Amino acid sequence: MTDRLEYIFSPKSIAIIGASRSRRKVSWEVLDNLLVYGYQGRVYPINPAASSIHSIRAYPSVLDVPDEVDMAIVVVPASKVLPVVEECGEKGVKGLVVITAGFSEVGPAGAELERALHSLVKKYGMAMVGPNCMGVINTQDDVRMDATFAPMLPIEGDISFMTQSGALGVAVMEHARNVGVGLAKFVSLGNAIDVSGNDLIEYLEEDPLTRVILLYIESFGDPRAFVKIARRVTKVKPILALKSGRTEAGARATISHTGAMAGPDVGTQALFEQCGVLRVGSIQELFDLAMAFSLQPFPAGRRVAIVTNAGGPGIMATDALVAFGMEMAQLSPKTTAYLKENLPKEASANNPIDLIADADGARYRLAIEAVIRDENVDALLAITVPPVVTDEVEIAQAIWNCAQDSDKTIVSSFVTRTKDSPAFNELVTHRVPSYLFPESAARALAAMATYKEYLERQEGEFQAFDVDRDSALEIILRVKKEGRSRLHEMEALALLRAYGFDIVRTRVVSSRDEAEATAEEIGYPLVLKAVHPEMIHKTEYGAVALDIRNPEELRSQFDSIVSRLSSKGLKAEQFMVQEYARGGKETIMGMNLDRKFGPMIVFGLGGIYVEVLRDVAFRLTPMTNMDALRMIESVRSYPILEGVRGEAPSDVPALAEYLQRLSQMVEDFHDIKEVDINPFLVFERGRGCKVVDARILLTPEAS
Ligand code: COA
Repeated sequence: MTDRLEYIFSPKSIAIIGASRSRRKVSWEVLDNLLVYGYQGRVYPINPAASSIHSIRAYPSVLDVPDEVDMAIVVVPASKVLPVVEECGEKGVKGLVVITAGFSEVGPAGAELERALHSLVKKYGMAMVGPNCMGVINTQDDVRMDATFAPMLPIEGDISFMTQSGALGVAVMEHARNVGVGLAKFVSLGNAIDVSGNDLIEYLEEDPLTRVILLYIESFGDPRAFVKIARRVTKVKPILALKSGRTEAGARATISHTGAMAGPDVGTQALFEQCGVLRVGSIQELFDLAMAFSLQPFPAGRRVAIVTNAGGPGIMATDALVAFGMEMAQLSPKTTAYLKENLPKEASANNPIDLIADADGARYRLAIEAVIRDENVDALLAITVPPVVTDEVEIAQAIWNCAQDSDKTIVSSFVTRTKDSPAFNELVTHRVPSYLFPESAARALAAMATYKEYLERQEGEFQAFDVDRDSALEIILRVKKEGRSRLHEMEALALLRAYGFDIVRTRVVSSRDEAEATAEEIGYPLVLKAVHPEMIHKTEYGAVALDIRNPEELRSQFDSIVSRLSSKGLKAEQFMVQEYARGGKETIMGMNLDRKFGPMIVFGLGGIYVEVLRDVAFRLTPMTNMDALRMIESVRSYPILEGVRGEAPSDVPALAEYLQRLSQMVEDFHDIKEVDINPFLVFERGRGCKVVDARILLTPEAS
């Protein structure tokens, strides 16, 4: 696909099919953009009713063009698309950009037309972007192709932007111009029936002129393929993504905590975290980050120094940096001494370094040079509240001069100054990002540090454990055969045991006498639970008794459970006698099958408050060993597993292994819809984990 996309991004000749004689038409704008932006290849307007358009010779059909045509931009109404695309195929056109709307986005008739279009494209082996798109741009010097109908021309740069919304694409390009961010490639995907977003990411991965990839995503076509590709690409160049809309999460699960906690956006979040895509919340943020990513080197660490000419913005920037997870650098005594000696006595030589209001370019230069030489500093944020008494361009020059002599990350904020200010232009054209407010600069620095850490992080390995797949299959087939979708408790435990999970000793009994006999075998203390198909969360029914220490207690608890249930009109036929495992911490581990994203593994600290606290992390399968470890470390209450106030650390490596075993199990059996292991007790490091309770549900189709 990557080769075929060359015809779309770097065609030597373009036919505009449906080029209109009328200025107000979309196709006229496309042709106009191609000409005004200075497309380096040949252009052939196609219109059966015109001999020339925009002073260029027009042809009635693409078949009449005397030369080869690499790419065609289709701008005829939907009803006319199929015949013109057929002609393109006959002509040997290699790439198509179909701007025309009126396909699957308008309903079943459009979808039918779209399928026919796709068949034609495949029949002739063409590559097609669209339909229903804004077009494509390549600013490369020897191509200079603006094949869109956007009202403003792009500026050249090293950011490539792929959007699922054409209209938003226009807004974004306008914003890019305003903040001085230049584009390498732009592509509006439209309905993406042939060239997909994933194909384009792979193309941009190899494009030497693209340094940063920006995505605007409304929905994922194939999230699993995206993870695979993005994992690789983000190790080479950053991907910044703005994702709107809610995921098409499956119908909300009913039986498990896992299902209840799988909000509509967790799939996207999990996916981005796993493959190193940086998610942003707005178009502004997308470009704030893109500017820094494209202009500056990534910081080696999170230690930032601030140099400012006003105290207030310095403090605000400090707060913002810390909130975004950065650290204020501790300057070395040598740097502080130097600054004290050379700055006015009213200035502050500690970070944030306040040069005070009359600071000129020379004072900025002196301070910045000293600070970025300091080994304790990874990045610098230069803030300027535009001065009344000194020249702001001179300050801007001092900042970019220092940046050019250093390999440390330098960003700036000329408070209130944007595109039209001389300081902004001075900085950005010399590769120093400049922001309206210091908070934006702080956010950009933090994102760069995050990406740098991502570049250095170990991705780990996909491990395959030796499991008893046959026994697992047998259980699943039996449940299906009986027309059930829910596994009985003992079946759920057995399924987990087949995948290597350690389970607390458990027996099922049907009478009090049998319970007593079993208790002797397992040993006190014990847990007694009633089993009834209507009870999902047993505690809520008073059907569980913990820490039973002797036969007397067992008998009396047995009787109380029976009478509590009978007061609710329930009669339990079976009971579980279980070893009372103590000393571990309660975690929850589970899986929820999302219609779009597939199996999503959940992990968190468990117990009865799990749904209230929602301190859980989600990941998509398959998971590497490092994914599993990072997943555990990402929950807020992770320090509890490390041990607080002298506690021994929990067996986190064992938890990580079980997450992978669970991942393997649900990858092996795609008809498992939900797994909820809660509580899953984790003991001290080296002592493993034990399943106390588990619920497993198969997809309804499975039954
Ligand atoms: N081959 C070539 N040209 C043809 C043709 C053919 N078989 N049949 C007709 N034409 C010419 C027409 O004569 C017309 O030229 P003219 O204005 O000089 O007469 C030109 O093609 C355009 O056709 P027209 O019928 O005027 O269509 P239009 O310009 O009003 O609309 C689209 C065409 C594609 C713009 C419109 O159908 C559409 O899809 N609009 C939405 C686009 C959109 O929003 N895309 C998604 C963005 S995110």
